Amino acid sequence: MLDRLDQQPPDALLALIKLHDADPRADKIDLGVGVYRTGQGETPVFGAIKAAEAKLVAEQDSKAYLGPEGDMGFVHALMPYVFAGEPTRGGRIEGMQTPGGTGAVRLAAALAKRAGVTRVLMGTPSWPNHAQILADLGMELVPFAHATPDGSANLPALEAALAGAGEGDALLLHGCCHNPTGIDYTPAQWDQIAALLGRSAVLPIVDLAYQGLGAGMDEDAYGARKVIDAVPEALIAYSCDKNFGLYRDRVGALYIQTADGDALQRVLSNGHALARAAWSMPPDHGAAAVRLVLEDAQLTAQWLDELGQMRTRIAQVRAALGEAGMAGAIDLMPVARGHGMFATLPLSKEQIQALRTDHGIYMAGSGRINIAGLTMGNLPKFVEALAAVSAEALV
Ligand code: LMR
Repeated sequence: MLDRLDQQPPDALLALIKLHDADPRADKIDLGVGVYRTGQGETPVFGAIKAAEAKLVAEQDSKAYLGPEGDMGFVHALMPYVFAGEPTRGGRIEGMQTPGGTGAVRLAAALAKRAGVTRVLMGTPSWPNHAQILADLGMELVPFAHATPDGSANLPALEAALAGAGEGDALLLHGCCHNPTGIDYTPAQWDQIAALLGRSAVLPIVDLAYQGLGAGMDEDAYGARKVIDAVPEALIAYSCDKNFGLYRDRVGALYIQTADGDALQRVLSNGHALARAAWSMPPDHGAAAVRLVLEDAQLTAQWLDELGQMRTRIAQVRAALGEAGMAGAIDLMPVARGHGMFATLPLSKEQIQALRTDHGIYMAGSGRINIAGLTMGNLPKFVEALAAVSAEALV
């Protein structure tokens, strides 16, 4: 029976890692998968995490099972950073640990489906895995345009999508650092989105995977906080993979907000049951390290400092791309206005392929670049290569 299965293409984004690794050119540039890199092109383990891991090795006295909810010390230690103020909003918010941000989005969608959601409204383009998760769960994706051609977030498109939606629908939003465009809703737009959701029966699901990599920890949570304060029920899918640099350790959380504490316990029990049937319980190590960072004021300060350095470097690369202005026919100025790790350049499939083949520059097939893959050293080569492929396209 297994023989009936069709060949599936490898995940395009993850396949890029291998393609880049196999390229022997010394001056190749990896702008593919969303992994932070320093100005030297490295992805080091955070110093705060290294210190927490050392503590963990010295002090952990058992690796016996936790429950499907994972490390609740981790889940609770993170909440003041995500929600600010009184983080449970009067006992209406609780969370559970998940395997990375993907696990959190998957669980959010599965929980929504259990609650009767059949359609999910989502601005496109989006992170390709969003659509894959919804398709795998048999949920209908209702797309609307995330951005306008001038490079700002398209609020009227979201309003139109919400106007045609109601009970049985969810709206999947990127909390910050939109993946793949880098174009976020402004605070004023978030105010309007929250007000609209407050008047709607649509369930908000906020994917917050890059908190601290955009404008700041509080600034990046502005939209998620506005939304939860405007609605009775919401789901927040959180990732620590980027802002704690724990990618392969798979550290995430799903936060659930309900109208009252009784409902919260019931919804959580469904979350636990879904987790048990999917992965039983999340991997412990990375979340335990995050907990140890957040339980220690000095390590917390060190982590926030390291995160701030990442944010500053990303902003510097964005500004440098903006200053480059035009690369042939490609306008880099809008990149300077974006947030977080990604920007999408208006490149054709042929240009993306030519960048890979002729210049050793690897980016997603959508034209998405990982800003953090650029350094002050390789940026001139990148801009020149863009100019070259845009000139070829005109010939
Ligand atoms: C990305 O978009 O590059 C990251 O979120 C990594 C992933 O899992 O796709």
